[in-house]
Amino acid sequence: MDRIRIVGGNELKGVIPISGAKNAALPLMIASLLTSDTLTLENVPHLADVEQLIRILGNHGVDISVNGRREKQGEGYSRTIHFTCRTIVDTTAPYELVSKMRASFWVIGPLLAREGRARVSLPGGCAIGTRPVDLFIEGLQALGATMEIDGGYINATAPKGGLIGARYTFPKVSVGATHVMLMAAALARGTTVIGNAAREPEVVDLAECLNAMGARIQGAGTSTITIEGVSALSGARHRVLPDRIETGTYAMAVAMTGGDVTLEGTRADLLETALEAIRRAGAEITSTSTGIRVVRSGGLIKPVDVVTDPFPGFPTDLQAQFMALMTRSSGVSHITETIFENRFMHVQELARLGAKISLSGQTAKIEGVQRLRGAPVMATDLRASVSLVIAGLAAEGETMVNRVYHLDRGFERLEEKLTRCGATVERVSD
Ligand code: UD1
Repeated sequence: MDRIRIVGGNELKGVIPISGAKNAALPLMIASLLTSDTLTLENVPHLADVEQLIRILGNHGVDISVNGRREKQGEGYSRTIHFTCRTIVDTTAPYELVSKMRASFWVIGPLLAREGRARVSLPGGCAIGTRPVDLFIEGLQALGATMEIDGGYINATAPKGGLIGARYTFPKVSVGATHVMLMAAALARGTTVIGNAAREPEVVDLAECLNAMGARIQGAGTSTITIEGVSALSGARHRVLPDRIETGTYAMAVAMTGGDVTLEGTRADLLETALEAIRRAGAEITSTSTGIRVVRSGGLIKPVDVVTDPFPGFPTDLQAQFMALMTRSSGVSHITETIFENRFMHVQELARLGAKISLSGQTAKIEGVQRLRGAPVMATDLRASVSLVIAGLAAEGETMVNRVYHLDRGFERLEEKLTRCGATVERVSD
């Protein structure tokens, strides 16, 4: 099993190209199930989760061709992938595939909208909480679907003549359930109005792509989205938006180690709240013509309190990384997690590096320490594992991060991107 070896202490200097967003690429790829034409996606990151979804979509009958030529974008890499689903050959998403990645559950929306039925295994994914599917069930029921749970599967059936537009307000904000409602309602009869919709940039990206395919969606990016159903969607060409979590992660890495790095191909408006927290911690952040520049030249890291929230709040997917940054602050900070109930597994691993963190319910209290010391640590989930990498970059000596398959799910060419900026990071294969 691969491990990542880091020798900490170097400042980061240079350019890091930001990849296409994993969390946008996944729903966009799933949207290809909605049309018999070709959906072409540019800037698709090369990640384990994307490869896994390619296998799942193939199972449903999507023909996938990856551009052999790697599209060079600055110094970065991205791929253009063509997805064509002439006919859906299987409306079942089996446990063996869905259990590996929660987002693959989202195929339930397009399968139901286009074929009138879907049998989808209940999901797996990162072990960061119970993550139920009640909102998906209620939302699709509002569109007229019958939803039954049987043997670990959800059997969903649309009424004769297809899903029917409706008004539905989510009792809680869910990114995935919003994606699924957009896709299902795009092909429903009549108008759907979704209340308390997720406002994440990835929802906007999906809505823009669906509109390019002929859907009629208004209001994405606000909490009320209106979808006028159409009878069919066509193909389109769409570019995946930049990864705001990767952007925030590297910005926090620079804030932690010190240095001067331009994050290329990304946008500040995708993560204003997180950038503001990093600024308050002591880094200078400016937008440039190619991306975002992050500079921290000496000075202490200041303690900053954050609370995770749905967009535009501080993203839960940057909580672990920000905690890593706060371990070296000059005082006491508090981080409160409101989205997932079990997302503090990085705490005890950060403690192995010398961090002083105590937990009380959903709040972590971090007392900054002067130095971290390298140690072997274990990656427990996708975002937690990258927080250990960030901490390792600022720790004295060697940090070995075990179980890096979590990192490969969401961070493209991490070692290469960091090494080019002067870090000592290498992958060790046993
Ligand atoms: C997506 C992101 C993930 C991010 C999360 C929150 C992708 C592929 N993943 O996950 O990286 O951490 O948004 O920003 O885009 N919930 C219910 N019932 C449901 C659905 C969700 O109670 O039916 C709860 C969840 O347990 C959680 C909260 O709602 O507490 C938010 O989850 P949700 O927004 O659905 O997360 P995902 O879409 O799975």
